[in-house]
Order: sequence, then structure tokens, then C-alpha cells
Amino acid sequence: PCLHLIAGARPNFMKIAPIVRALQADGRLRWKLVHTGQHYDRNMSDVFFEELGIPAPDVHFNCGGGSHAVQTARIMEAFEQHIANDRPDAVVVVGDVNSTLACTIVAKKAGIPVAHVEAGLRSGDMAMPEEINRIVTDSLSDWFFVTEPSGVDNLRREGQAEAKIHHVGHVMVDNVMYQAELLGRSDTTGFPTDAVKRELQANGGRYGVVTLHRPSNVDDAANLAAIAGALKTVAADVPLVFPVHPRTRGTLQKAGLDLGPRIHLMDPQPYMSFLHLWKDAAVVLTDSGGLQEETTALGVPCLTLRENTERPITIEEGTNHLVGTDPAAIVAAARQVLGAGAPPARKPALWDGQAAGRIVAVMAGDLL
Ligand code: UD1
Repeated sequence: PCLHLIAGARPNFMKIAPIVRALQADGRLRWKLVHTGQHYDRNMSDVFFEELGIPAPDVHFNCGGGSHAVQTARIMEAFEQHIANDRPDAVVVVGDVNSTLACTIVAKKAGIPVAHVEAGLRSGDMAMPEEINRIVTDSLSDWFFVTEPSGVDNLRREGQAEAKIHHVGHVMVDNVMYQAELLGRSDTTGFPTDAVKRELQANGGRYGVVTLHRPSNVDDAANLAAIAGALKTVAADVPLVFPVHPRTRGTLQKAGLDLGPRIHLMDPQPYMSFLHLWKDAAVVLTDSGGLQEETTALGVPCLTLRENTERPITIEEGTNHLVGTDPAAIVAAARQVLGAGAPPARKPALWDGQAAGRIVAVMAGDLL
């Protein structure tokens, strides 16, 4: 049997890498890699393939940019044509991006079963495009590979059959553990973040790392300005470094927002260069989904600048704090975390670096 793995946007690539490694190690299933091209800048896509050791995609659709409907429709059209020429036995989608949704719908209408990796997560917030993508994808999928107990509960509540639900742990944690190991043996002096990090740490200093790209936080200039004000106050205590997503850079430029001298802005970073930076941070402030989990995996304090999270285990058992976007709350939470000692090193069940192997074992068992 042959699986087609779908990768489209930056947060997909670190989930695909361990699945590819596990398929190679297992050797029983054939597979091909489909890149939808949702993300297309070199530093949003190609650098991840190179660094994470993902083979070049077998097919590339170039479906980046455009509105949600345009982007989703273009991916659907391209994927429909692709599977008409080269029909897989199953399609594997990861996460919650538009590529995940588009390829799931097309595969199911063609009668091809779908495996959803990172299934069952729910923020309860229908204003998030990802929540819609998650719900639609899960309503159609045949295998649910779940990262945390809340995902199992959500799928049961939605009436999904028990036999389809597999709590396997998290491929993103497989990846961060693998890469952190490699990083420990790497020469980091060539990384764009290395000099910045040394400057931030001058005289034993602590620092924080920021990422922001949620439309609700960054599309509206007033919302972004409010968060930026809080970040400037936090930066008076510890310097911050902020790799800026293209979506966020657009609003910063349009609104002419100045973050001041204590917040170091940089381009989006390759995986290793970014890991090198955040793994030693005193605090990470983010609205990312994946970074909430990666910080928990490595025990780095994280403040999530959102009103909800679809990844509650990171708060219950990890290092994450759900702070919201009220400026005073952000500043208070940062001071609290910076004043506290090291967070307890606890890891959620099955976040052990072996999730991809469990996924491949289940799929091979069902397909062979
Ligand atoms: C997408 C995902 C989001 C994920 C995020 C991580 C959806 C609905 N959203 O959001 O879940 O957290 O990726 O980055 O799928 N752009 C570039 N270069 C690129 C990629 C994008 O300039 O390589 C521009 C696009 O043209 C667009 C904007 O950035 O104007 C947003 O890109 P898009 O893919 O629509 O969504 P993201 O905000 O990246």
C-alpha cells in the first residue's frame, strides 16, 4: 500500500519529518510526499525540508497566497487531479491548516481513507480558521491519531467510533526531541540567532522570545499595538527577540509600529536556529499552537497570548499559561513567570519521542 503525506504550511513540516523517519524505519508501507505550496517563502518552507531531513516532495502544487476560499479551492483542484493520476491507498494529513482541510475533503470524495495526525483538538473558538479546519477534518477522517486526553474526550463526545481513536502521543514532540539532540552536537556559530543570543545573554542576562501570527492578534493594527505596548513593558525587565511572521510584518509596517530598542526583530528563523534561541529563554510569549507544546516538551515557561487553547494538557501538566491579550495581564504574567523558579519538569503521557512509530504500526496493521 502507498500513503500520500500532505505538507503545506510551516507547522506541518516538523510533524511530517518524524512520520517519514518512522515509515523508513518500518519499511512496510510505500509513501509519497505532496507539498501544496501553501507556504512558499524559502524561510517558511524549503529551509525546514533541508534542516529536518525531509526528502524533496514528489509533487508540489504552488497553491500559496490568496484568501481562504481561493487557497483552499486551488489546493482541492490540484489534489483532485493528482489523485486521479496517482491514487494512494490512504492520505495522511497533519494539524489544522487549510491544506489539511482541502486534501481531506478531496480524498474522502474520491473514496480514499484519511488519517488525521493531531486529531480531536478543540479550542471552542469558531472565529479561528484552524478550529473550522479541525472540525471538518475530524468529521471525515478514518484514523484519529491523538496527542492528548482532551482530544480523545472531544472525539468521543462527537460520537466517533472508539476503534478509530488512537492516543499515540505527539509527532511534534518526537521532532523537537530529535532536533534538540542534534542541536546539542551541532556548531551553532553560523546560526543567524547565535550572535543575537550571545548579545541577549551578555553578563549572564535572561531574555524572552516572542512569536505572533494569529489573525485575531496581528491583522488589526489596534490589537497588535496593544500587545506591542505590553511587550515593550516586559522588555524593560528582560530583552526580547521576535522573529516576525510575514502576516505580522505586514501589519507592523502598515501601522508604522515601533517596538523600541529592547525588542530585537528578525526574519522568520529556520527550525534549528529558532530552537537554539527559545530553548534557553526565560520566557516565551506566543500565540502559536505548536510552540505551546514544544516549550512543554523541553520545560521552557510559555505565555500564550490567546483567550483559549486547543492544547489544555500544556497548561494542566506542562509549562504553559493561558494569558489572553489584555496588556496588563500579559505584563503581570511575565513578571510572575520571571520571578518564579524553574517550572517542574513534567511531560504529558506518551510525549516520549515514539509517536510516529505508533502511528505507522497502526496504519500498517490496518492496511497490510
Ligand atoms: C497558516 C495556518 C496557521 C498556521 C500558520 C503558521 C491556515 C488557516 N493557517 O497561517 O494555522 O499557524 O500558517 O505560519 O492554514 N505568506 C508569505 N510567505 C509564505 C507564507 C505566507 O508571504 O511563505 C503570506 C501569505 O501570502 C499571506 C500571509 O502570509 O498573505 C498568510 O499566509 P497563509 O498561508 O494564508 O496563512 P498563515 O497566517 O501563514
